[in-house]
Amino acid sequence: AQSAKESLYIVSQYASAFFVKQLWETDEGKGIGLSYFKERGFREDILKKFEVGYSPDVWDAMTQSAVNAGHNLEFLEATGLSIKNEKGKIYDRFRGRVMFPIHGFTGRVIGFGGRTLKTDKNVPKYVNSPESEIYHKSNVLYGLFHAKKAIRDLDNCYLAEGYADVLSVHQAGIENVVASSGTSLTVEQIKLIGRFTQNVTILFDGDAAGIKASLRGLDMILEEGLNVKIVSFPDGHDPDSYMHHVGAGAFKTYLEQNRKDFILYKANVLLKDAGDDPIKRAGIIRDIVESIAKIPDPIKASVFIRECSSLLEIEERILLTELNKMRSAKS
Ligand code: UTP
Ligand code: MN
Ligand code: MN
Ligand code: MN
Ligand code: MN
Repeated sequence: AQSAKESLYIVSQYASAFFVKQLWETDEGKGIGLSYFKERGFREDILKKFEVGYSPDVWDAMTQSAVNAGHNLEFLEATGLSIKNEKGKIYDRFRGRVMFPIHGFTGRVIGFGGRTLKTDKNVPKYVNSPESEIYHKSNVLYGLFHAKKAIRDLDNCYLAEGYADVLSVHQAGIENVVASSGTSLTVEQIKLIGRFTQNVTILFDGDAAGIKASLRGLDMILEEGLNVKIVSFPDGHDPDSYMHHVGAGAFKTYLEQNRKDFILYKANVLLKDAGDDPIKRAGIIRDIVESIAKIPDPIKASVFIRECSSLLEIEERILLTELNKMRSAKS
């Protein structure tokens, strides 16, 4: 007999194909879902490559279709695709949303993100599949299946926040991109990237939340022994909106010309509010040294100490003393 896990993969694949069919072949899907994607500037080949779909705005369309095709409700419920309410009535988790299937790194569908088409602030923008026996969010990077070869070949991984970012960066001809989608970045996700490259370039949103996530993310990446650079975007833009705003060519150039190492990035971000206040500046220098102290390789760390010293005009010796204090406090 089939393992339960295998059955979850099978119903997930069924749902993915159902959503794809809805998007391309039904009036509702074409009229609402496909036109939404087109309005956002997505090309058809990208939509097909990522197998995006549409979930009809009906109580239980997907569940009914799956059950009629002979799939077991138990497995649909175990993936979170179908939900039973208190009265025992079954309904679809995803309704009236454009659907992003999440592939495991062998390419099988393990979960979904669904984006609302409504502008109503009370409706959550994205609904995601819950954890299941086949979907462990902290171990998954959206887009990895489509990116892993390019990540290895180019020896760099772009890391974005969301589904749309991954699609748009691909559309610009850049295939080495993944997103931490649906969770904040985890150590497991960084280790997963580490199987393909030692170099990560963060492309988080250019808002306060994105900056905060970048600062946290870069420390985590350094701690795992990987190299990290950051490209930031003008406030209000994310990689997706910026790519469509400036076009593919200019976007590529932007990534190449705005890649900053973490010292420069932190100095830029933090010094912006500090001005000339020497006490604040000292705090910032300490903050940067704290990031350097996370780097396991002492030789690499000393190279960054040197950079920090010349950038912020502080004697290297003082920074090294500080670094050593932090390192011994840690161990
Ligand atoms: P954003 O709010 O930046 O959305 O969340 P986005 O990706 O730019 O979406 P678009 O461009 O408006 O379509 C970034 C990511 O965080 C997760 C999703 O994975 C999203 O892509 N997220 C966001 C959720 O899981 N739930 C939410 O309600 C919002
Ligand atoms: Mn597939
Ligand atoms: Mn955001
Ligand atoms: Mn965003
Ligand atoms: Mn966006």
